[in-house]
Amino acid sequence: MGKKSERILVIDDEPGMCRLLETILGEAGYQVVSFSNPIQALKAIERDSYNLVITDIRMPKVNGMDLLKAVKTSSPKTPVVLITAHGTVESAVHAMKLGARDYVAKPFQNDEIRMVVEDVLEKQRLIEENRRLKTELASRYQFGQIVGKSPKMQQIFQLISQLAQSDATILIQGESGTGKELVSRAIHFNSSRNAQPFMAIHCGALPETLLESELFGHIKGAFTDALKDRKGLLESAEGGTIFLDEVGDMSPPLQVKFLRFLQDHEVRRVGSTESRKVDVRVIAATNKNLKREVEQEKFREDLYYRLAVVPLHLPPLMERKEDIPLLVEHFLDKASKKSGKADLNLEPKTLQTLLDHNWPGNIRELENAIEHAVALSTDSHLTSEHFPPSLFEGSSYPDPSSLEKLAYREAKQKVQESFEKTYLTKLLNRAKGNITHAAQMADMDRKNLQELLKKNNLNITE
Ligand SMILES: Nc1ncnc2c1ncn2[C@@H]1O[C@H](COP(=O)(O)OP(=O)(O)OP(=O)(O)O)[C@@H](O)[C@H]1O
Ligand SMILES: [Mg+2]
Repeated sequence: MGKKSERILVIDDEPGMCRLLETILGEAGYQVVSFSNPIQALKAIERDSYNLVITDIRMPKVNGMDLLKAVKTSSPKTPVVLITAHGTVESAVHAMKLGARDYVAKPFQNDEIRMVVEDVLEKQRLIEENRRLKTELASRYQFGQIVGKSPKMQQIFQLISQLAQSDATILIQGESGTGKELVSRAIHFNSSRNAQPFMAIHCGALPETLLESELFGHIKGAFTDALKDRKGLLESAEGGTIFLDEVGDMSPPLQVKFLRFLQDHEVRRVGSTESRKVDVRVIAATNKNLKREVEQEKFREDLYYRLAVVPLHLPPLMERKEDIPLLVEHFLDKASKKSGKADLNLEPKTLQTLLDHNWPGNIRELENAIEHAVALSTDSHLTSEHFPPSLFEGSSYPDPSSLEKLAYREAKQKVQESFEKTYLTKLLNRAKGNITHAAQMADMDRKNLQELLKKNNLNITE
């Protein structure tokens, strides 16, 4: 923002001082509005917006402090500079504590006031720029409910907005918990179909015949339980999107029927000879490697290519660990809203543990871990002990290359310590926390085991 457009409000009960400031600052290129009546000034502050307010401290009726408070309430981001008479520097210091940005003592040199104003406005520009960047970053790293700053996720954000503009059939592949359903919803809700239904169906959850009638519908009498005509999900999703989850689990006969649907977009209800056209966009997902299923002849090649018009691969969390801090923040925010616990924060050491974990369950596992921790926390500070112990398994063996640099005794002790901790944690998990059981499994004396647990800070309440 250029100087010329910056507006300054001046308040001083002496009209002469108002004129003087108008002249000095006007010559410096600012737009200056002045009031010798503070009540009128207050109204102006509420009505218009200013880049800076300059006010005298000592005035009858409404003084500079009152004005400062009023500005802080009605326009908290607007900086305030105070003008103090000789000998009232103390109140100026007090005012700084209340949020004034700076002060100038009377009598002042023209240059002096110009410099203070220039300084304050320069700093204000920086603050605003920072704020703008921050919100921009927040929106750049988030696509609806999907969070990610890694290049891989940034690419996916872009792909989602492109795919939302088209009707192409999409195959989303990725391990369990990588966000396949979330992404498919984002595509639908950013598309022109968003006012029409999004229907999801899990292809592995139903027996073949049920899945068929679920998808295509049936007519009365088509099978024993078909008491009346019923339309399937494809028809119900008319104009919208159907999400075929775990498409790899579709039986071969149904694969043929679905392929036919993708070719002509016609639905024939089970038992019927009539077909009807439906306009539905198809998004399919699987956590299997569908190409390999094709090679192993478990999935039809022609259907694979029809589905994978646009293939979209969601990388495992392991491959985008730089997203973890942002995801943690996102889930903490979500959990704090749900639980009513405010300002949840994570010990840096614990965040490191989360970064070190290899997340076989991907983002779902991370989300659950955070929910677990929030549920167990007693205040807003989360530490390792609040997280599921499984997160700490296996990752605690020291790195061999770091050991070589240590003295033999030290290295040996380190390995022993980490061995004990890992072994005992796994043992306790297997024994579901039951010490007697654990002692039996480890072929150890119960008392010795208890002592070892204590030494490793693995106290459990029995
Ligand atoms: N990038 C992300 N940002 C925020 N939340 C995410 C992200 N990815 C996944 N999630 C959340 O993680 C959970 C799992 O995601 P989703 O159900 O989409 O995974 P999925 O790939 O369909 O898993 P599955 O194969 O097990 O069905 C959901 O609660 C989802 O909201
Ligand atoms: Mg899913």
